Amino acid sequence: MSGLPLVIEGGGASIHDRIQLDRPDIRKALTEHGAVLFRGFDVGGVEGLDQAVRELSGAPLTYSERSTPRSRISGNVYTSTDYPPQEEIFAHNENSYQAVWPLTLYFYCIEPPLTQGATPLSSTRAVYESIDRDIRAEFERRKWMIVRNYSDELGLPWSEAFNTEDRDEVNAYCARNGIETEWLDETRLRTRAVREPSHDHPVTGARVWFNHATFFHVSTLPEEIRLGLLEMCGEENLPNNTYYGDGEPIPDEVVEHLRSCYRAASTRFDYQRDDLLVVDNMLSTHAREPFTGPRRIAVAMAEPSNA
Ligand SMILES: [Fe+2]
Repeated sequence: MSGLPLVIEGGGASIHDRIQLDRPDIRKALTEHGAVLFRGFDVGGVEGLDQAVRELSGAPLTYSERSTPRSRISGNVYTSTDYPPQEEIFAHNENSYQAVWPLTLYFYCIEPPLTQGATPLSSTRAVYESIDRDIRAEFERRKWMIVRNYSDELGLPWSEAFNTEDRDEVNAYCARNGIETEWLDETRLRTRAVREPSHDHPVTGARVWFNHATFFHVSTLPEEIRLGLLEMCGEENLPNNTYYGDGEPIPDEVVEHLRSCYRAASTRFDYQRDDLLVVDNMLSTHAREPFTGPRRIAVAMAEPSNA
């Protein structure tokens, strides 16, 4: 899968004019390549990003069933995950643990980092093909389970994750979305959901590896954080962890193999100011390198999909 992302150079032209002229070709390029980088265009800041999302995808989505802290910049434009700069964020497909996810993601570089801080991409078609057949077949048979713990002390409070203070609303949302709830006390909620590990892309029909089984597995955490968390709360209370769909553990060496497949497929580029990266969330994973310097990336999501 070469050419991820496809780069389209603007030479200072308005991105909105370009979208108006070339929208069908841009959409086609996005599903062919999995990601398109608009470079050297006049985007028009965060308001221009919001407009570009509407022109290419339709209205940007609210960030629901959260797993990471983000701040709202304006409307449905958010900061990229507020997470310590020295930490890598491993490859993932946004919200692939949900019943419904955004099909298209937008990353807009307001201010580039000093060093690193790229959004590396991996083709989920390439990842799917490179996974050991037996390992893949086992996941496809057993599926995978995400277990999440919400609390005020660790991870996210449930009210923040679900954008409500009302427990009945959380219960209703979870029932609608195939999520089992277990209220441990007033402030602590544990949820479980069983999801498919792979899907057919809704436009191309390509089989893609699309799940958070690797990202949220405890072995993917940096060692110091992993050991600290396990000592503090024990495995069953981890903010996030993954299992096979029947609740049995996924062996560490299986997750290590999956990590190596994502890494082998990974490509990167250095951000420049005003870069607009558009990602097909089912065809490409995204990650975040550690970085130094300021790095301000605005993020928007669009096109709810459930394949
Ligand atoms: Fe993400």
